[in-house]
Amino acid sequence: LIFLVSSLLYRVSLMMKPQVVFVLGGPGAGKGTQCSKIVENYSYTHLSAGDLLRAERAREGSEFGQLIANYIKEGKIVPVEITINLLRKAMEETMEKDAKKFRFLIDGFPRNEDNLQGWNTVMDGKADVKFVLFFDCSNEVCIHRCLERGKSSGRTDDNRESLEKRIQTYLQSTRPIIELYEKHGKVRTIDASRSVDEVSK
Ligand SMILES: *[C@@H]1O[C@H](CO)[C@@H](O)[C@H](O)[C@H]1NC(C)=O
Repeated sequence: LIFLVSSLLYRVSLMMKPQVVFVLGGPGAGKGTQCSKIVENYSYTHLSAGDLLRAERAREGSEFGQLIANYIKEGKIVPVEITINLLRKAMEETMEKDAKKFRFLIDGFPRNEDNLQGWNTVMDGKADVKFVLFFDCSNEVCIHRCLERGKSSGRTDDNRESLEKRIQTYLQSTRPIIELYEKHGKVRTIDASRSVDEVSK
């Protein structure tokens, strides 16, 4: 019986290890749009770090709401413990509901060295990062798209001032992370300045 139970636990633990693709690219590169399209036809769950943070900001009684609001407004990167906890909880909840849903597109994370170190520390051995899906897009195209989106998205950070800060943060902090993964041959790059359908194909 002990053998059966332990082999079962072993199989469960194998089954439960999340397979992760990090989705990175500048603001407006189309990460969210394309993740939704991938989810349509492949067995991935899309987790947007930004969406999880915005949901936490809005959650009644959240102890981090105000802090998150300030960081987002300033275009700064939210402390890594908060983001990783939200991601982890979302992955666990997804797999508890359906053990077959262990593949995740994590969009907008890791955004800087601190994010990456936090992930490596907390998630070491708990998830496999397969590769980085990199949406490569010029700043001009990105800014234009975000300003267009800002007209209807209602996002507090889709205005020119927040955008410029977000792009600075992206160039200074996120690009080096992509380059780091590139050195390990773990980046798949997509030309994201093309139309939604072309990128999707
Ligand atoms: C998903 O697959 C269907 C059937 O092959 C196809 O018509 C559709 O365009 C695909 N969706 C995306 C987003 O690629």
